[in-house]
Amino acid sequence: MKPLIPFYNPSISYEDNYAQGPFGLFAELDKAEQVATKPTKFLNVDVNLPFGQPAGPLLNANYIKAAFAYGFDLCVYKTVRTKFHKCHPLPNVLSVHPNGKLSPNLDTVLADRNYDQPLSITNSFGVPSFAPDIWQPDMADAVNAAGAGQCVIGSFQGTQGNGEIEKDYALAAKLVRETNAPILEANLSCPNEGASKLLCFDVDKVERIVNEIKNAVPDRPLILKLAYFPDDERIISLLTRVGKIIDGLSTINTLSAKPVDASGHPALGENRKEGGICGDAIRWAGLDMVSRLAKYRQQLDLNFSIIGVGGVSNSEHYHQFIQNGADAVMSATGAMWNPLLAIEIKKSLK
Ligand SMILES: Cc1cc2nc3c(=O)[nH]c(=O)nc-3n(C[C@H](O)[C@H](O)[C@H](O)COP(=O)(O)O)c2cc1C
Repeated sequence: MKPLIPFYNPSISYEDNYAQGPFGLFAELDKAEQVATKPTKFLNVDVNLPFGQPAGPLLNANYIKAAFAYGFDLCVYKTVRTKFHKCHPLPNVLSVHPNGKLSPNLDTVLADRNYDQPLSITNSFGVPSFAPDIWQPDMADAVNAAGAGQCVIGSFQGTQGNGEIEKDYALAAKLVRETNAPILEANLSCPNEGASKLLCFDVDKVERIVNEIKNAVPDRPLILKLAYFPDDERIISLLTRVGKIIDGLSTINTLSAKPVDASGHPALGENRKEGGICGDAIRWAGLDMVSRLAKYRQQLDLNFSIIGVGGVSNSEHYHQFIQNGADAVMSATGAMWNPLLAIEIKKSLK
């Protein structure tokens, strides 16, 4: 089969993708085939299929409308902040070629522009955001675009240096709530602060952030976006502290690595030696996190929902995540290069 055109163009800037995209089939909404499924419940909403795209590839309402048209029923609007935040310069996306699975130990990986399957990429944006006066009306438009059995999840994060980080998370949550998004997601796994310093590993801080968000927005389900946790102790500690307050966990975000070009130089530039890796090479880690969370959810008698993320690029991967205990599944890299992924998964259920 001829490869499909990705709906995000990695060779042009984030700003140009925002203004001109989405591309390929996502620009031709009338070509989308509708495949009926048996609706189910995810948190507080009815969904046709608990499958969609995690925070990242869906930059704005135009992208979300296209994703809905192509049957991605759970669409996370790319992470927003309380203030404008500039995007890293190009390159923001490169193909990477680890030998099989990527380890969680900052592997060095060859990066280039050969986007062959099975595909893994590095993404390095720095979580850009427009100011709330731009993204709020756009997110509200995306929320309104949801059809029957579809829903927008609003992703947000606090920013270091905007006062207390807990308060900035709570303000971001309030601003997302104002768009009427039915579900909120706090990104606690942004790799910008360095792979070992991810917020989600600081359980005290996570508890304070979760409490601030729940005080600010008590009437919306809250999902936390988590990285891969190598050790079980920290998972148990996190679940013990916030497992009864939150409504869902989405995992994993990227695994960090050092992308280099053919001559061994940092492929993202001298001042960006590390990048987050997603796609095929991290699926093992997504599946592993989901099964451990499902195990401890049962052992600790908790009932949050689990969204499985990481390297999903076909219907078999979707079913693997569900078997490991996920209540919903999402694909970023796989979906970007295959806009027909949700339709394919729906057909696999027939
Ligand atoms: C282009 C791109 C942008 C991303 N931006 C965000 C983001 O803003 N917030 C976030 O929580 N995760 C972000 N991610 C991470 C994804 O949500 C997801 O956790 C990760 O890509 C693993 O899934 P995958 O293997 O299906 O790509 C981004 C991923 C990609 C590919």
